[in-house]
Amino acid sequence: MSLMDEAKSFFEQLKKDTLEAHKKALEGIVNEATEEALEDIENADSLEKVKKIQVGIFGKKGHMTELLKNMGKVSANDRPVLGKVLHESRQIIEKKLEAKIIFFAEQEEELKLQKEMVDITLPGQKVYEGHKHPITLIQEEILSIFNKIGYTVVEGYEIEEDYYNFERLNIPKDHPAREMQDSFYINQELVLRTHTSPVQTRTMDKITPQLPVKIISPGKVFRRDDDSTHSPMFHQIEGLLVDKNITFAHLKGTLLHFLRKIFGEDREIRLRPSYFPFTEPSGEVDVSCGNCGGTGCRVCSYSGWLEILGSGMVHPKVLEMAGYDPDEVQGFAFGLGVERVAMLKYDINDIRLFYENDNRFLKQF
Ligand code: PHE
Repeated sequence: MSLMDEAKSFFEQLKKDTLEAHKKALEGIVNEATEEALEDIENADSLEKVKKIQVGIFGKKGHMTELLKNMGKVSANDRPVLGKVLHESRQIIEKKLEAKIIFFAEQEEELKLQKEMVDITLPGQKVYEGHKHPITLIQEEILSIFNKIGYTVVEGYEIEEDYYNFERLNIPKDHPAREMQDSFYINQELVLRTHTSPVQTRTMDKITPQLPVKIISPGKVFRRDDDSTHSPMFHQIEGLLVDKNITFAHLKGTLLHFLRKIFGEDREIRLRPSYFPFTEPSGEVDVSCGNCGGTGCRVCSYSGWLEILGSGMVHPKVLEMAGYDPDEVQGFAFGLGVERVAMLKYDINDIRLFYENDNRFLKQF
């Protein structure tokens, strides 16, 4: 080989070596940066930090983005070398980022589940349940007793015509019986009903001439009364049965059945003559005192009996006004105070307790 050739090949080799060294150096720089990035990612202790690193590398102004953007400025020799290492580096870093992000997402999910975990062995929270008012309870009990023996529940109007509240019940305008009930009048014709008895006449008007009439009717009534045993508003339940061959014995048997169901099978009843313009004869019904069993105590004012309801055979005039022939049909009716029944049954001594909405009282039912 000539000296010239030797020199040429030497320089050739030198050039090759220099290029190789340059390439190695380039790779070295990128690999070092990659290692650093991987280490940073590995050390990141939160999702937030990982995201920050991600932006620092691949974001709009990230290192990798900047490098790739400036590839045009790199010499034609370096470009393929740099392109290849950057591409590899990018893949490695992205993979690492992804793994780390998944790791944090799973950790977060785990934490969330742990936080939401319910210990099903713990006792439940006590829910304070609402319930029915004692008056409603007693009312429902009474209605159900009569329902079972064939009575249909009907309702009337709280604002009633004077005509149905009085006139049709054989209480004309000048009748002294109007004094028995201190009424709330709305005007000449309208009154807050003083009893549930107008339902008797309204019902008969609808049913006549069919038989039987067999109804039970609960509702509010109003009187100008206010003390520990009287309230201006209280509840009554009216009963009416009209049919052929109805006698006072039917009335007594029905009331005995009802009172024993509501107060207990050992109760006795007693009918005292009384007066209502719409029944003839009329009877006030007493039930034997449950406190002393009839021997006399404080509860029954030492009489052994408790007054419980008003009743009687429907007055012929009332039947006639409703369109029935009193020679052909008879009926009995009764009206009882729901509060009175509740007071006796639960031993309550002040009627106002029912309307004060004191939870300490209501909670007991
Ligand atoms: N309506 C009467 C009252 O309120 C009760 C009663 C009803 C009496 C039915 C007889 C028949 O006092």
